[in-house]
Amino acid sequence: MRTEEIKFEYQIFTSSDELAPEDKTLVEAARAITAKAYAPYSQFHVGAVALLNNGALVSGTNQENASYPVGNCAERVLLATAAVLHTNVPVKTMAISYHNMNAGGKSHKPVSPCGMCRQYLREYEERTKHPIRLILTGMDGEVFIINSVKQLLPFSFGSEDMA
Ligand code: THU
Repeated sequence: MRTEEIKFEYQIFTSSDELAPEDKTLVEAARAITAKAYAPYSQFHVGAVALLNNGALVSGTNQENASYPVGNCAERVLLATAAVLHTNVPVKTMAISYHNMNAGGKSHKPVSPCGMCRQYLREYEERTKHPIRLILTGMDGEVFIINSVKQLLPFSFGSEDMA
């Protein structure tokens, strides 16, 4: 028997004012695009904006449905859009923010991408052969930067497991 440990490093910024200008711009865009979420059921408005390796910006918001499981998260809406508009172009950085109307519009803690989105992001990294840098934030407060989604999904399942 042996025990292994998995550790990963991420950066914590006290506020978006501490970010490099390019990252701050992405965070501000992600916060702004939360206004375009379609979230009448959860009242949890999520916005994501990504900078691609070709310099293009792509955005996504959550799109809910009266049949709840049909809804899509902002991250997957963004990646599906990028896959069509900029096929095979890697995503350099994705900023994700949210506006929680259940908490009076407050969102001080960085958003946490759901498990399904982590899996989707992980496959996007694989197919474009490039890590996706994630910037997680709310409308204000701390900002986390994570260098690859693989860190958020240890022991993940991918195409190599089916070879
Ligand atoms: N949601 C996202 O769009 N991204 C996340 O990272 C977390 C959750 C959405 C799904 C659903 O529309 C709403 O937020 C509440 O779960």
